[in-house]
Amino acid sequence: MATVINVSHLTQGYGKTIVLHDISLQVAPGQILALIGPSGAGKTTLVSAIMGMLRPKSGTVEVLDTPMPDRALLAKIGYMAQTDALYDELTGRENLAFFGTMQGVLKIELKQRIPRAAAVVDLQGDLDKPLKDYSGGMRRRLSLAIALLADPPLLILDEPTVGIDPELRQQIWAELHRMAKRGITILLTTHVMEDAEEADQVMMIRQGAAIAQGTPAALTAQYHVDSIEQVFLQAGRDQDAR
Ligand SMILES: Nc1ncnc2c1ncn2[C@@H]1O[C@H](COP(=O)(O)OP(=O)(O)OP(=O)(O)O)[C@@H](O)[C@H]1O
Ligand SMILES: [Mg+2]
Repeated sequence: MATVINVSHLTQGYGKTIVLHDISLQVAPGQILALIGPSGAGKTTLVSAIMGMLRPKSGTVEVLDTPMPDRALLAKIGYMAQTDALYDELTGRENLAFFGTMQGVLKIELKQRIPRAAAVVDLQGDLDKPLKDYSGGMRRRLSLAIALLADPPLLILDEPTVGIDPELRQQIWAELHRMAKRGITILLTTHVMEDAEEADQVMMIRQGAAIAQGTPAALTAQYHVDSIEQVFLQAGRDQDAR
């Protein structure tokens, strides 16, 4: 398998409105791709298309060599939505057990995996609190732990670092890099330039178009600048001038 995600000339939108124009991207096994772009650029729409929650208006989306949408493939994707979908009445541990079971993780495995996933996001001490006592950042962290539970070959994380402090952000990145080394492929969206710098590949989306893509090093070299933020600003100016 050469690619885990293969998006080719994708046009996507809602009803008659076009939100994404001619997007192509490939992600190889064990690679981390960061989708970066301003609010409303189309990041979540692209994630939804890759998950098969939207059918392409034109172009194709393949995940693990399977054209999307494909319901059966969802079991192979660890997904963290931008909006947390959690049970307020249950504790953190109960939420993890519930969603883990839904993903087909066996009870005996959950016993080991729940504390491991909770440790990645520093929630070990809060697992027995009901979710209604969690802060916004804690809920984000629990959603990330849920996405990690089943140890899927592909992780799709929509803004995993929102509401996460810098120290924990580094800890999460260390874990993402470890998973990538094991061959897990990761696609994430972010507003944060530091996240983009951590990725193997960056795709910048603005107004539904891919304005720049490549490795962080190749992009900064191509634009003769020294940060991903400056690449983004320059690529945005270039787009406006066209
Ligand atoms: N369900 C929907 N129905 C109609 N329009 C939508 C829907 N979801 C998103 N849009 C529109 O599509 C565009 C892209 O939205 P999208 O959520 O993909 O952006 P985003 O890059 O994820 O933004 P953010 O960083 O704020 O999450 C926006 O103009 C938005 O209004
Ligand atoms: Mg979004």
